[in-house]
Amino acid sequence: MEHRPFAGISVPVIGMGTSKTFDVPEVNDDRQRITDIALDAGANFFDSSPMYGNAERILAATLAPRRDGAIVATKVWTPDDDEAERQINASLDYFGGHVEVFQVHNLVEWRARLDQLEARRDKGELDIVAATHWQASALGELEDVMRTGRIAAIQVPYNPHEREVERRILPLAQDIGLGVILMRPFAAGGLVGRSPSASDLAPLRGFGVTTWPQALLKYGLSHPATSVSIPATTRRERMAENAAVGDGPWFGPEEKALVEQLAR
Ligand SMILES: NC(=O)c1ccc[n+]([C@@H]2O[C@H](COP(=O)([O-])OP(=O)(O)OC[C@H]3O[C@@H](n4cnc5c(N)ncnc54)[C@H](OP(=O)(O)O)[C@@H]3O)[C@@H](O)[C@H]2O)c1
Repeated sequence: MEHRPFAGISVPVIGMGTSKTFDVPEVNDDRQRITDIALDAGANFFDSSPMYGNAERILAATLAPRRDGAIVATKVWTPDDDEAERQINASLDYFGGHVEVFQVHNLVEWRARLDQLEARRDKGELDIVAATHWQASALGELEDVMRTGRIAAIQVPYNPHEREVERRILPLAQDIGLGVILMRPFAAGGLVGRSPSASDLAPLRGFGVTTWPQALLKYGLSHPATSVSIPATTRRERMAENAAVGDGPWFGPEEKALVEQLAR
């Protein structure tokens, strides 16, 4: 598994998201196995949020036996300062008193949240402060946050149907050396409902791609600004399939154009 370090953390190019997929009432064998498969494959970067129902609690329980081998990226998501403190405390409790990457979710009240996260970072409770948004309309504001110099990473969507970040956000992240966590590699599942044929995908075989979801993962990670992609799944075999494209060679313009054409 290739690693693309940012802010001093060695990050694998494939990780895992937990929105919806880990919002289950209690840990079950499937969720435990999905986390274990990710860890075994070296896809040990896990994204969550208090916005995702039970996901943080369930992820934390599945990670508990191997917490040291994981990089946890969670979020704070509220307009209320006191509630933000509660969310941060709850996340720290879930993940053993320390979180590697703490993100301001959807830029909600970001100035106050950055103050709070920076104070926690100074106490050693977290390593990296970051910010996320998923809507194209918010990218201007995200750019402002990037330019404050207060964050070390961003999380944004990037796939053949959501390419707005190519224009300004990804080049800016590269210019100022920010990590880029790539969310929604399958457009929340919208891109994997149907799959191109094996012969359509044949030109990508030399890149280690045998399935359409793998082509989409490689598409995003072939942009040199990206650090880690975080596909979410409820199925063990899909976690293994996703983790299997964590090495180069990466796509050039021709292969990216093919994936864009196949995604139409
Ligand atoms: N504002 C934010 O910060 C924000 C917003 C959105 C997302 N995120 C983060 O980004 C993560 C990823 O985004 P997402 O969950 O919205 O969407 P996604 O990862 O693009 O797509 C998830 C969907 O793809 C399916 N899938 C996964 N692997 C597959 C495979 N190999 N073959 C076929 N289908 C596959 C899953 O279905 P099955 O379960 O059936 O496999 C699931 O329905 C989230 O979980 C979350 O952690 C953050």
